[in-house]
Amino acid sequence: MPLKPLPHHSEAKIQLLKAYLEAYLAVVGHDRYTERVFLADLFCGPGMYQGNKAGSPVEIGRMLAGLHNAHPAAPKTDFLFNDADSKNTAEVEGFLRPLESAHPKIKLISSSKDAAGLIPDLLAEQADQRLKSKRFYFVDPFGYSQISLAEILSLLQSNGTELLLFQPCSFMFRFSERGTPEALAGFMEELSRGSPWPKGLNIMGYIQHTKRLLRERLEGTHFVDTFTIQKDAKTVFCLFFFTRHIRGFEKMLEAKWRFNGETGHGWHYSSAVGVDDLFATPTPQTQILEKSLDTLLDGKGATNAEVYRETLEQGFLPKHANEVLTAWQKAGRLTVEPPPPRSGVFYLGYENHEKKDRIVRISKVS
Ligand SMILES: C[S@@+](CC[C@H](N)C(=O)[O-])C[C@H]1O[C@@H](n2cnc3c(N)ncnc32)[C@H](O)[C@@H]1O
Repeated sequence: MPLKPLPHHSEAKIQLLKAYLEAYLAVVGHDRYTERVFLADLFCGPGMYQGNKAGSPVEIGRMLAGLHNAHPAAPKTDFLFNDADSKNTAEVEGFLRPLESAHPKIKLISSSKDAAGLIPDLLAEQADQRLKSKRFYFVDPFGYSQISLAEILSLLQSNGTELLLFQPCSFMFRFSERGTPEALAGFMEELSRGSPWPKGLNIMGYIQHTKRLLRERLEGTHFVDTFTIQKDAKTVFCLFFFTRHIRGFEKMLEAKWRFNGETGHGWHYSSAVGVDDLFATPTPQTQILEKSLDTLLDGKGATNAEVYRETLEQGFLPKHANEVLTAWQKAGRLTVEPPPPRSGVFYLGYENHEKKDRIVRISKVS
């Protein structure tokens, strides 16, 4: 089959998937608890594109091989790739079987179902409790009609499950603007439960609103985050990331900040100059974080665990909060009780977050 070109915005999507999986596999591969990682690419596509560019299933397979090469004690990894078009899954199989042969801890599961028909298989897999498993799903449909919100939410019910969903947000946004959601009957109506979408939002406001509704639908059990990819002046795609686990959330934010060292928010077509440039490190814009910490630390202040959580919820990393707090401490605007061994220490990392002997209260000096 002649290879298709991989659109530029898809390259950004694959790069974010890779950056996240690299961090994810480093954690679950070494946690000494997980016995098996189950990964599923629900809309895997053909595997390879023109110019020797790899699509999601090939990149995932390569990352699994990389994990087992570097870390022979890593848990076993089962990888299900699915596409309604059996020509695609046959191609992907051809690319991946050599990796499976070389690595006994990689098991491939090929599937050519309509995504709706695959969901019961995935739920049955979740019900199998014989091994301590972690799960990651990559959901990359062409549009909004190929998988329903209810199906996505059903996959998120089991513990230890993370999901990355790619959505063509600007198409959905235009429909919401015109108030003609018939083409979007699935996702958007389901999400808003039939209520009208707010008027006057721009595309980024629309994405924020979608994120808020998703959080509500998950009743606060999950962290939800977004990463935008702007294809051209009018077209924005968005990756939505779902996890129950604060550590998983932090790993996703780290991947995002590697992409955009200024705001952590997304990738713009004008920066489509090459992957190396995506990983340049400009100065982060921490005004949003400063504002939210200023409010949080008012009055009786907040514990380091609360500051850590708020920092992530605002889309920032502990290192950013550390910089902000250190500057305020130097200016005599902060107290930390009980005082850590030296200034500039606030115990914001995940490791500290669960340690009882590292609980401090950080407050603004009134
Ligand atoms: C955006 S492409 C996936 C690209 C892929 N993730 C990559 O990185 O190369 C979407 C894929 O979904 C498949 N597809 C379309 N409708 C589907 C359905 N209802 N169920 C499963 N797969 C479907 C298409 O054949 C297509 O290969």
